[in-house]
Amino acid sequence: MQKFRDFADLELRGWSEPETARAYARDFAAAADMCAPTFVAAVDARPGMHVADICCGHGMLTKALVATGARVTGVDFSAAMLELARENAPGARFVEGDAMALDFDDDSFDAVTIGFGIPHVPEPEQVFGEVKRVLRNGGRFAYTVWHGMEMDGAFRWLFQAVQDHGDPDIALPAAPDANAYGSREIAVPALEAAGFGDIAFQTVDSMWVSSDPAAPFVFFHDGTVRGAALLRGQPEPRKKAIRQAVVDEVMRCCGGEAPFRIPIPAAFVSARA
Ligand SMILES: C[S@@+](CC[C@H](N)C(=O)[O-])C[C@H]1O[C@@H](n2cnc3c(N)ncnc32)[C@H](O)[C@@H]1O
Repeated sequence: MQKFRDFADLELRGWSEPETARAYARDFAAAADMCAPTFVAAVDARPGMHVADICCGHGMLTKALVATGARVTGVDFSAAMLELARENAPGARFVEGDAMALDFDDDSFDAVTIGFGIPHVPEPEQVFGEVKRVLRNGGRFAYTVWHGMEMDGAFRWLFQAVQDHGDPDIALPAAPDANAYGSREIAVPALEAAGFGDIAFQTVDSMWVSSDPAAPFVFFHDGTVRGAALLRGQPEPRKKAIRQAVVDEVMRCCGGEAPFRIPIPAAFVSARA
């Protein structure tokens, strides 16, 4: 039986909403896209390689991989995301599928990338096992997750504001910690158990540049699934308080004047099969 069934259902439903997919692609993903060059370098993408981009979303990392001359297969379980991805990366092949059960033969790929998909799967260890299975021996794997409460930035500001001002009755279904797989303590044993070695960590200083100090609130509200589940149902006064707390942090941290360079740092993890 699948663990975290309610969470898995929430994720599939949320990412399948065309408005959420479009809002993610339009706003939130600007920070995610900043990781693309690090991915390309980490897996050493080049002509002749076959790369799978799992949880490919609207396909901007897929597009960067295609630009290297690699043959790229994008996988996502959201038809709404895949529709955007086909427009953004026409040179790739796209497959609708679940990262938890990849529909590919063993040893099919030279490299696998997962940009910000691990926080959305109910069993990251199972995904690592699937990635290892479809990678040839020696193939490279790289993934990103957002740094969480441990680092100053939009992620912490938003979730701290929800803790401080949100309705305590609005809670997410039980799920793995969205940011844990960016930490050595959790990621190394999980990757090693799946058969990976040569594991390396770095931080990508990704950010949003916006004239709106409420941008983190708006981007999480409109263009994510967990953020939306926490924010959209808040009573109006609580929503206002959460939004204001986020604005206060942006003003404190980002110079007090537009344009605001709003940090949302990413943990970047790479390994070898
Ligand atoms: C935060 S978005 C990341 C999109 C893109 N990779 C990027 O870096 O911007 C997460 C993506 O993972 C997809 N996703 C989540 N769980 C999935 C699963 N179990 N199988 C396949 N795709 C999944 C969602 O549909 C969504 O497109």
